[in-house]
Amino acid sequence: MKDIVFELIEQEKQRQREGLELIPSENYVSGAVLQAMGSVLTNKYSEGYPSFEGINEWNETEIAERTLPNYRYYGGQVNIDRIERLAIDRACRLFHADHANVQPHSGANANEAVYYAWCQPGDKILAMSLPAGGHLTHGAPVTRSAKIYNFISYGVTADGDINYDELEEKALAEKPKIILIGYSAFMKIPDFERVAKIGAKIPGCLLMADMAHVAGLIAGGAHPNPLDYGFHVMTSTTHKTLRGPRGGLIISRGKVSSPLKKPEHTLENIPTLIDRAVFPGAQGGPLEHIIAAKAVAFGEALQPEFTDYAHNVIKNAKALADALLKRNFVLQGGGTDNHLILIDIKSSFGIDGKTYEEALDRVGLTLNANALPSDKGGAFRPSGVRLGTPAITTRGLGVAEMEIIADWLHRVALLCQNPNTPDSDYDKIHSEVHNLSLRFVI
Ligand SMILES: Cc1ncc(COP(=O)(O)O)c(C=O)c1O
Repeated sequence: MKDIVFELIEQEKQRQREGLELIPSENYVSGAVLQAMGSVLTNKYSEGYPSFEGINEWNETEIAERTLPNYRYYGGQVNIDRIERLAIDRACRLFHADHANVQPHSGANANEAVYYAWCQPGDKILAMSLPAGGHLTHGAPVTRSAKIYNFISYGVTADGDINYDELEEKALAEKPKIILIGYSAFMKIPDFERVAKIGAKIPGCLLMADMAHVAGLIAGGAHPNPLDYGFHVMTSTTHKTLRGPRGGLIISRGKVSSPLKKPEHTLENIPTLIDRAVFPGAQGGPLEHIIAAKAVAFGEALQPEFTDYAHNVIKNAKALADALLKRNFVLQGGGTDNHLILIDIKSSFGIDGKTYEEALDRVGLTLNANALPSDKGGAFRPSGVRLGTPAITTRGLGVAEMEIIADWLHRVALLCQNPNTPDSDYDKIHSEVHNLSLRFVI
């Protein structure tokens, strides 16, 4: 008898095919990535690391064929080592890095590992606040990290940019161990150079960029790379614009000699300190099927088509933002320079973000309610919604379709203003969304 779980997976496949995914942190992975994830590599335990010899130096055939001594605690690693080394090598090439740790199970784990590698309990970390657009793992009081470390936050200005003056003032006064640039709802390009100069004035300050949202844009050359401006570490998820499996990644400049030996606590040793923080510091056996899928996704991102993809994501986001502005939507920061748009739906049409999210679900358009900086609505009834173009761009939608989507978003906002709108009004838009979705197969 077929497990009912598979029926539900089929239903989810249909939902994804028949609607449009506008959540900016989601994407559609390739068949090859799915295949690696569903492979026999899930059967294998491989605590520890492969050798790092030849990373960034050898070609892929050499990496895939040579067997080297490793730093593992289990036997039978001949293929696993080669796959993980390919994933590391590809990540380094994508992000101009010397070292990559591909083992974090998620973006949250990647961030925690960096904090753990560089900070002692009570140390200060300067990061963007959650309401301003930062991520939960950047010090939101509900998190474990916030109980261990002393987070200090900076915010954004009225025009939606990082408040660099505030960041500088707090950095120089508080002398944090880490300055973190990263966000889940921010639409500008950070001034990495300015932040690197601020960090350089503070001895022992680690410059960390959490680029989970824009990693694919960086990989595709459509967004600056913090490592090119002197940042020591970049963390990321692998499943957003980077279009890989759900997971985390940490890249850095500098080589690891041996992850078995505890190194001195210096910035030069940060790659080794991070490897030891991931394993054995925070995780056990790596998910080698996911690491293989990361390797496949990084391989795809190294292809020239991915450069087009990254630029098209931004082109579509800008076109969508313009089309929304024409229809009287109020956008945080006035528009976007990346893949993400934050609508102040309360100021635009007098409805809250959750009501709007639920109404859009009814027509097959998926996005998420999101708090705005200084939101009074709380986490469950925020005044904003967040949307973006990574997934629909993968699907092949272009600038012409952004007008159509903006039009649906506008019509649903108007329907939402009246609680007695008949179902048939939503159904009509749903069938239009459905028809367009089927033109762009996944
Ligand atoms: C900037 C940023 N960092 C970290 C994370 C956490 O990633 P994960 O959900 O894989 O733990 C996210 C996820 O949304 C994010 O946006």
